[in-house]
Amino acid sequence: MAEYENILVRQEDRVGVVQLNRPQALNALNSALMTELMHALRAFDGDDSVGCMMITGSEKAFAAGADIKQMAQASVVQMMNDPFIYYWDQLAAIAKPIVAAVSGWCLGGGCELAMACDMIVASETAKFGQPEINLGIIPGAGGTQRLTRTVGKAVAMEMVLNDRKLSAAEAQQLGLVNRVAPVEQYMDAALELAQGIAQRAPVAVRAGKEAVTKAYETTLAEGLHLERRLFTMLFATADQKEGMAAFIEKRKANWRGQ
Ligand code: CAA
Repeated sequence: MAEYENILVRQEDRVGVVQLNRPQALNALNSALMTELMHALRAFDGDDSVGCMMITGSEKAFAAGADIKQMAQASVVQMMNDPFIYYWDQLAAIAKPIVAAVSGWCLGGGCELAMACDMIVASETAKFGQPEINLGIIPGAGGTQRLTRTVGKAVAMEMVLNDRKLSAAEAQQLGLVNRVAPVEQYMDAALELAQGIAQRAPVAVRAGKEAVTKAYETTLAEGLHLERRLFTMLFATADQKEGMAAFIEKRKANWRGQ
């Protein structure tokens, strides 16, 4: 595996795990960290031995936002030219599912990073927020768009305009978070979810992610059209034949990712 300075990377069975590792800055997301994160995720995306990925931070902070010290003196042109802010969008091009395992601060760009993942498992101590208004800016990596589509206008307005923070329990109630676990158990809970997905038919998992993601971005008619195309395309895979044969023969399917 490649050498990184701002992240720790490991593989647990079929799950590729990336841990954000800038503890001195509560995992604030700077260009170097985001470049390494994207590099590691793309490597896992192209590795057949990985079926699902996980992004996590520390118990104290998933990430306290984009790096304010890096941005403080930036000009408009520097912000436009720096690919940094586009990395959040590039996460959407990762084909395999990503589970975010969140504990502690999950703020600003950190909350946007978690929302750009496909599922979130949180510890009871997690705190979600978009506090950019305190810096004289607004969220710039999905915090007004993905957040609003998930929690609705009323709560999103309070979070973006008045720095309302959500506890893990509130975030789960609002549909932002899949599961909440005690702080000693959230990593295992996230890993269990990721391992479960990683053991399923790989091509179908990718198709399922693409189809569900599309539901947030398009009309119902276009979404249904994509769903039908992906559904019928899966009948060209060996795994569809294997999955249905295994059901009929009352045995466990042996997925080949073909
Ligand atoms: N950027 C850079 N450094 C950060 C940081 C950030 N987003 N968040 C924390 N740090 C640094 C602090 O400066 C501090 O470093 P020093 O010891 O060198 O001073 C270290 O991390 C520890 O932080 P605190 O001492 O502040 O820790 P705390 O426990 O007292 O407070 C906190 C924790 C409430 C999360 C507080 O650090 C905080 O408010 N952080 C900023 C949160 C924020 O505004 N995030 C949005 C960033 S803008 C953005 O994300 C834009 C976008 O949409 C892409």
